[in-house]
Amino acid sequence: MKSVEVSTAQRSYKVCVGRNILGETGRFARTSAGGRRAMLVSDSHVMPLYGRKVRSSLEAAGYIVSEVTVPAGEQTKNMGELAKLLERIAEAGLGRDDVVVALGGGVVGDLAGFAAATYMRGIQVVQVPTSLLAMVDSSVGGKTAVDLAAGKNLAGAFWQPSSVVADVEALRTLSPALFRDSVGEVIKYGVMSDPELFESLERQPLDLGDFDRIGDVVLRNVRTKRDVVDADEREAGLRQTLNLGHTIGHAIEAESSYALGHGSCVAAGLCCMARACARKGLCGDETARRIDAVVAAHRLPTGTSVSPDKLYQRSLADKKRHGDQINIVVVRDIGSVEVRRVPLEEYRTYIDLGCAPL
Ligand code: GLY
Repeated sequence: MKSVEVSTAQRSYKVCVGRNILGETGRFARTSAGGRRAMLVSDSHVMPLYGRKVRSSLEAAGYIVSEVTVPAGEQTKNMGELAKLLERIAEAGLGRDDVVVALGGGVVGDLAGFAAATYMRGIQVVQVPTSLLAMVDSSVGGKTAVDLAAGKNLAGAFWQPSSVVADVEALRTLSPALFRDSVGEVIKYGVMSDPELFESLERQPLDLGDFDRIGDVVLRNVRTKRDVVDADEREAGLRQTLNLGHTIGHAIEAESSYALGHGSCVAAGLCCMARACARKGLCGDETARRIDAVVAAHRLPTGTSVSPDKLYQRSLADKKRHGDQINIVVVRDIGSVEVRRVPLEEYRTYIDLGCAPL
């Protein structure tokens, strides 16, 4: 097992990455969060797979454990489920010093994390991500949220976990389609600031069977995210680079009514942005072509059939919009990106250029 230390103003904590470490969750919770009671939160897919193992480890560490199973899927990330979860936490008698344990993918992590952030104005949460997307992104950095009718993640809080336990063996039960989808975020990290990782993905696509390599990739991504979050916990500047590919990506995702996976949409958004940047002379054509090739090699989409008009209209509701300007992340090279605030009309030219072939 290896660990990465994250230090933010709110809290410092360890992200533990390894194989077969789910059974250590109780020990990590005990040393990082303490408390007497634990509320184990998972979904209808993950609880039957790993709930018992995590529950026994919490009990072995001396916790009185209660549990809640929420329905699997993005539609669970809403205010109604949040309210129900908070009521269950209160019924279970958790106090200020107790702990929520979020076992699952991004939906569970975001929902349970937000519940922990608001219950009694904030109790501790241990994140136990079981999907690749949650391991490399959502479980680290303290963003928690639920969706509103107006859009994704519109109500939430920055609430750092007490520790993160990422057991890559849990990915064994991830469907190949979901695994492939998650790699969209992994490719993003490479383009954003890890050329070595990008080159390794170019040489050999990431495969679900190779757990040692996946463990290394998770660790690299967590380190990258740590460096960003340590410098800019509340997304005033550098943290925005993590949104590479996300503005166009979120628009594609919303247009598909969330039927298309997040990582696939990020991959398509990333390719569009890189093509636009090449056309504008911000990066070389070769850079955009390499990104397209890596995305295609992982059987992810390099573009979208959604019209530029629709993508633009969707982007107007984006959190990254500031009046008649919007923050975008431009590609300069593999491993080098920049945040730019541009007028909406200029952003529109990025969409037009990004949607056309290079
Ligand atoms: N998922 C982007 C961030 O954590 O900032």
